[in-house]
Amino acid sequence: MADQYAYSGDDKRPTGFPAIRWEEPPEGPVLVLLDQTRLPAQEVELVCTDAPALVEAIRSLAVRGAPLLGIAGAYGVALAAARGFDVDEAATALASARPTAVNLAVGVRRAQEAHEAALANGADLQQAAAATLAAARQLHREDAEASARMAEHGLALLEELVPGGGHRLLTHCNTGSLVSGGEGTAFAVALAAHRTGRLRRLWVDETRPLLQGARLTAYEAARSGMAYTLLTDNAAGSLFAAGEVDAVLIGADRITADGSVANKVGSYPLAVLARYHHVPFIVVAPVTTVDLDTPDGASIEVEQRAGHEVTELVAPQVPVAGAEAGGGIQVAPLGTTAYNPAFDVTPPDLVTAIVTEEGVVSPVTAGALAEVCARSPRV
Ligand code: MRU
Repeated sequence: MADQYAYSGDDKRPTGFPAIRWEEPPEGPVLVLLDQTRLPAQEVELVCTDAPALVEAIRSLAVRGAPLLGIAGAYGVALAAARGFDVDEAATALASARPTAVNLAVGVRRAQEAHEAALANGADLQQAAAATLAAARQLHREDAEASARMAEHGLALLEELVPGGGHRLLTHCNTGSLVSGGEGTAFAVALAAHRTGRLRRLWVDETRPLLQGARLTAYEAARSGMAYTLLTDNAAGSLFAAGEVDAVLIGADRITADGSVANKVGSYPLAVLARYHHVPFIVVAPVTTVDLDTPDGASIEVEQRAGHEVTELVAPQVPVAGAEAGGGIQVAPLGTTAYNPAFDVTPPDLVTAIVTEEGVVSPVTAGALAEVCARSPRV
């Protein structure tokens, strides 16, 4: 366990530990997660031996972020298969652990289908478990590849929209290697800009209430050595007004057929600000985040989370989410009720571009989105 706050910026590992990995110790296969509720104070690993443990890790945000939820879901089904549990029961529980990020259900379904196909082809249970694990590993690899291609497309788009480099980019929530098989989505683009000398500064929204920006994006930015500055979510407006933002870069949890974007709560206000200040608002997400079966933003189920996440401040070195009585520092009078949607929805007309591994959708229309998704063998 590493226990540190200071990062030198010359640490080449994207994080101290991978966000997720499959291991096979003599006692049986396990899924090892970097517990994101403890970062940045502690790099602690969480070992899941069955699907219910993984469901709890997903709900508590120990493992989180759309692409990683898909990977975790697939490994969760593989874990159930490898340990001889009921695969369909595990798949149902995992797919519904959190409702908004479509990647979770997609990853679960992909592993479940591999299991079903193996059995249908005459495999025994052990062989079917191996096929399920292979499908999870394949999804993990594909996500890493998608991440690299999104970074390439995103960087080219930035050059086009904001010529001359020296980009000052604003981001919200956390979208780096902590949520991905690779270097992430929006953060991967910022990282590519940093590596090519084109990033002047990454502005990092703290992302209330669970501080994914302050705790996780700042952690990833510090490790990369890029220039970054943390701000409260409420400070973004004055930053735009001062002309300090060249583009907004965010990820997505679900993009519907009409191009509506569900992402961490606070994304929609940034899109409104960006439009008012004539700043590009760019969404970076793999095609696995596009849900062509959901017609529009109004049809997205937005996760509502416990009120204590708002009435308390998360404290370093304690788990920040999940427990009914939060464990944070109480800031509101006891008994205060809270409105705590985990996500909001940005309508397509406020989105300048959606960057996927298959190409860029801009302007964002249903037709252009479907066309880009059709390039992927997986949609
Ligand atoms: O509630 P979280 O932390 O899982 O929310 C994550 C986000 O909103 C991310 O911005 C989104 O999943 C995109 S990650 C590439």
